Amino acid sequence: MNFSLTEEHLMIRDAARDFAQTELLPGVIERDNTQTFPDSLVRKMGELGFLGVMVDPKYGGSGMDAISYAIIMEELSKIDASASVIVSVNNSLVCYGLEAYANEEQKQKYLTKLASGQSVGAFCLSEPEAGSDATSQRTTAIDKGDHYLINGTKNWITSGGRADVYIVIAQTDKHKGSHGINAFILEKGMPGFDIGPKEDKLGIRGSDTHTLQFNDVKVPKENRIGDDGSGFRFAMKTLSGGRIGIAAQALGIAAGAYELALKYSKERKAFGTEICNHQAIAFKLADMHTEIEAARMLVMRAAWDKDQGNNYDMSSAMAKLYASKVAMEHTVEAVQIHGGNGFVKEYHVERLMRDAKITQIYEGTSEIQKIVISRGIIKE
Ligand code: CAA
Repeated sequence: MNFSLTEEHLMIRDAARDFAQTELLPGVIERDNTQTFPDSLVRKMGELGFLGVMVDPKYGGSGMDAISYAIIMEELSKIDASASVIVSVNNSLVCYGLEAYANEEQKQKYLTKLASGQSVGAFCLSEPEAGSDATSQRTTAIDKGDHYLINGTKNWITSGGRADVYIVIAQTDKHKGSHGINAFILEKGMPGFDIGPKEDKLGIRGSDTHTLQFNDVKVPKENRIGDDGSGFRFAMKTLSGGRIGIAAQALGIAAGAYELALKYSKERKAFGTEICNHQAIAFKLADMHTEIEAARMLVMRAAWDKDQGNNYDMSSAMAKLYASKVAMEHTVEAVQIHGGNGFVKEYHVERLMRDAKITQIYEGTSEIQKIVISRGIIKE
């Protein structure tokens, strides 16, 4: 067992940290206030290779491992979780899904642009009546010979208005249940594909979340990913990798808040000394440091499993479950350590606290992670 990062991992960490400090930090409060999507920053992240971290360079990616991806996600999320969710969805739900399951023509047509940041991807599984219960898809994709006709509604879609390429999960044969579901590649602008209003959210307000409507959208047959009926399995496998990204995002949010709280506690004085010298604060810092490190171990373990070719359904669920809990609890503590200043936007911790909540909800709620983990334990 080796707990050290390689020289290459350290360089990647420094590059992501530097980008987050110099590029993401300056406008992060403004983007949160105004719900502004970071267009030019997404382009820059594409140039740095952050949008196709694990994709083979022959498809425009950076050819790095999942550990590098987790490191990048942690560093970006310390500063701007809105930017990092765009990175996570593009990498692990869209690019990974295409690289692992799409055919060569689909990869050439879509993956290369997505991995290099020339286009942005969205993953459309959730529906008004099918969030956690993902097998209950109401969106239909009826086989019409040379094309499918797609009808239905998708909810809470990250990058919903800004994406160029959408992976849409839909039910083709209701009688076959989860084995009658397919995954399709849709493009913005297809007739009948409408983008609903942007959601006004508690956190990750710089990301672009929309409802999508499909009214008789004709999707060519060659846009189906994989064999007929393989869409639910595709969604589940893809989400397992997505959960590594979101776990690393939660870790970054927690670590970012902790770093700010530690710094503040060494500067702020009360009762004649820096507040870190009071046990009430010092013990909070000790708990934060310990539990964030434990979350990091789980995130790295899940990423390592992926890199080794091991099954990572359970380890990614465990990492997401724990890291998101740590993010929620310790961002609240970071606000508490900041006192009144913690409630003020310029100190950043209130935003991190708001951003933390979604990590317990999207890409499978904490309750869903417990279903995955408990089923895994019982099966073993
Ligand atoms: N790998 C391969 N196959 C899998 C699988 C996996 N990880 N998980 C399930 N399957 C297979 C099962 O083996 C089963 O196949 P068989 O019938 O052949 O046995 C089939 O898929 C159906 O599986 P289940 O019976 O386990 O289905 P279920 O109805 O009990 O649901 C669930 C399982 C784990 C709860 C699943 O519904 C789930 O993960 N729900 C949460 C969905 C989710 O994470 N949504 C997030 C939306 S995406 C998002 O948030 C993106 C964003 O923009 C940020």
